[in-house]
Amino acid sequence: MNIVNIKDTSGKLYYIGGVVRDELLGRESFDIDITYVGNAIEYCAKFGEVIRVNPDFGTIRVNVCGREVDFASTRAEVYDRKGHLPRITKIGCGLKEDVLRRDFTVNALAKSITTGEIIDYTGGLDDLKNKTLRVLHDGSFIDDPTRIIRGLKFSVRFGFELDEHTKKLQDEYLSAVNYDMCYKRVKKELIETFNLNSQEAFDRFINQGIYKLVTENDITLPSVNIENLIKTYPVKNVWLVYAGVLQDLSRLELTRQERKILDDFVLLQNTPMNSDFEIYKAFQNVETETVLLYAILRDEKIARRYLDNLRNIKIQTTGDDLLNLGLKPSPKYKEILDKILAAKLQTPEMSKKDELELVRTLL
Ligand code: CTP
Repeated sequence: MNIVNIKDTSGKLYYIGGVVRDELLGRESFDIDITYVGNAIEYCAKFGEVIRVNPDFGTIRVNVCGREVDFASTRAEVYDRKGHLPRITKIGCGLKEDVLRRDFTVNALAKSITTGEIIDYTGGLDDLKNKTLRVLHDGSFIDDPTRIIRGLKFSVRFGFELDEHTKKLQDEYLSAVNYDMCYKRVKKELIETFNLNSQEAFDRFINQGIYKLVTENDITLPSVNIENLIKTYPVKNVWLVYAGVLQDLSRLELTRQERKILDDFVLLQNTPMNSDFEIYKAFQNVETETVLLYAILRDEKIARRYLDNLRNIKIQTTGDDLLNLGLKPSPKYKEILDKILAAKLQTPEMSKKDELELVRTLL
């Protein structure tokens, strides 16, 4: 299922990384990575329509029978600036060198397209069998701390555990994080990890101190089960409900909408919520993600009261109705509409006729 229909006898094309891992685990892969031992750009163009070429990285994306496939040249890299993108030192190196720059042994397997043979330079097959995540060298997390989040993602997705030494290296890194790192990559991995909507991933994220990659604040695990909350109240930005618990996401490049979700939560902290009317008004114009953060960090009962009982209540009376009743537009409109809302929150079955009746008594 993960294999694309490529006929090649060069002996130089290999499936590599996640796609080999996923095939051996009997899982579907979303992207298929293929590496060419040498310079892929010219050689791989023949497999289909070329979609994109990146000469600096020696990569080419080709449409093969309706599937987009990335072909990469084998390459060697060094991390001049730890935590940032590596610099390519050689395009067209040997397969072994290409494999050794990778994160975990289970992601360092290659499969020959010509013969189907699995090439395992690092013990990835055994680790796959033993459900173990093992880095390829001691400097792996220092080079690229996002690998710590990738480890979390894979351990939860596949039920794997870090091997003892890898866990020790992770603990060492987290006890002295170098915050000069590429947060774009951190954000990408956080999104992929938390979009799994797994309470277990979040428990590990907090309890293992992985959150320290993002903030210097001390964070404790909230008592609310976030996974259940999101299953009950689905949201678009699942990841942000989890990551938002850290509150300080200033290092991540948030979009305007993501920023607003967090800023609204901060504003809500000082908003009184002593009645259904106050609760409704407070949450009326915020995203569900913000309400869930309120449930997790402030008051679950109040947030659920809004989501379960209040949020779908809408008054039907409009400004035009008030005009038709002979009322001139003024700040009084808001006062009256709020009074109708307050009444309707108490008696949601109120019809429009009942609402207008109430307006008349108010006038
Ligand atoms: N890789 C790495 N270090 C990283 C990111 C990626 O060594 N920080 C290597 C791994 O060998 C990985 C491959 O590049 O298998 C492809 O990366 P990516 O597509 O991000 O990962 P996948 O393993 O395919 O994971 P996923 O299934 O989540 O896409």
